[in-house]
Amino acid sequence: MTMSTVGAVAAPKITARNVSKIYPSVDGSMLALDDFSLDVADGEFLAIVGPSGCGKSTFLRMLAGLEEISAGAIDIRRSDVPGKPLNSVVFQEYAIFPWKTLLDNVAFGLEMRGIGRKERLETARYWLDRVGLSKFAGYYPHQISGGMKQRVSIIRALANDPEVLLMDEPLGALDAQTRVVLQEELLRIWEETRKTVVYITHSLDEAVLLGDRVILMSAQPGRRLATFDIDLPRPRTIDAMNTTRFAEYRAAIWDQLSREVSRAMEIAP
Ligand SMILES: Nc1ncnc2c1ncn2[C@@H]1O[C@H](COP(=O)(O)OP(=O)(O)OP(=O)(O)O)[C@@H](O)[C@H]1O
Ligand SMILES: [Mg+2]
Repeated sequence: MTMSTVGAVAAPKITARNVSKIYPSVDGSMLALDDFSLDVADGEFLAIVGPSGCGKSTFLRMLAGLEEISAGAIDIRRSDVPGKPLNSVVFQEYAIFPWKTLLDNVAFGLEMRGIGRKERLETARYWLDRVGLSKFAGYYPHQISGGMKQRVSIIRALANDPEVLLMDEPLGALDAQTRVVLQEELLRIWEETRKTVVYITHSLDEAVLLGDRVILMSAQPGRRLATFDIDLPRPRTIDAMNTTRFAEYRAAIWDQLSREVSRAMEIAP
């Protein structure tokens, strides 16, 4: 088992250097993220775990350009494919349009980019098919289950073919069984697309199952505490969870995370 603390990456796709975030608060200001640095390799699946309130979502929103950076710098390296969006984000809440069919929801990003109707619908159908939703192409979100909605959110992001995919607890709202099915689907799709992914989760199982590396953040203010290289063979399936190796990674991460969770509870008002 390897546990590195530096983890510099050759030719990174994402570089975050000494990133801090200060929010205004009732007592003046609050340091949410402190001097956080990170490289993500091209085609890497990076998982981030940490106690509630440690700044994971803040960091992801900064990666997505949705939140101002107080100090430091973030860079996402563009490929030479023209017209690719820099990122797509999947949040825990299903961010799909209730007034659009599943097909039009998946095609939405492509429409925004000015891609012709025929091509965007073809792409959207391809992705619906990939996750077994072809039959529901003409359905509206209120006619499908939560698991199906989250599938739609995920493939909508993938259909956009972004430089990087940013995911914040994408399976967090799902029941345990649906979650496992979607974890398997994510594994399968990622093995094929090899997108650069930053994936935030509270589930250590999910982090170890999906991640090439798992980064552990400290309780607020969020700092980088440890990095675990997950050296489980690829392609992985859900069966990887039944191995001793998997249990060892999980235990090693939990050992450190549990201390931070206790610390986070002491900090909380
Ligand atoms: N817009 C905001 N204004 C002020 N404070 C904020 C804002 N967003 C987040 N915070 C604070 O910053 C800290 C980090 O929040 P963040 O949502 O990034 O944590 P998190 O690690 O994603 O937590 P969780 O695991 O519960 O989702 C928290 O203390 C939170 O209250
Ligand atoms: Mg969060």
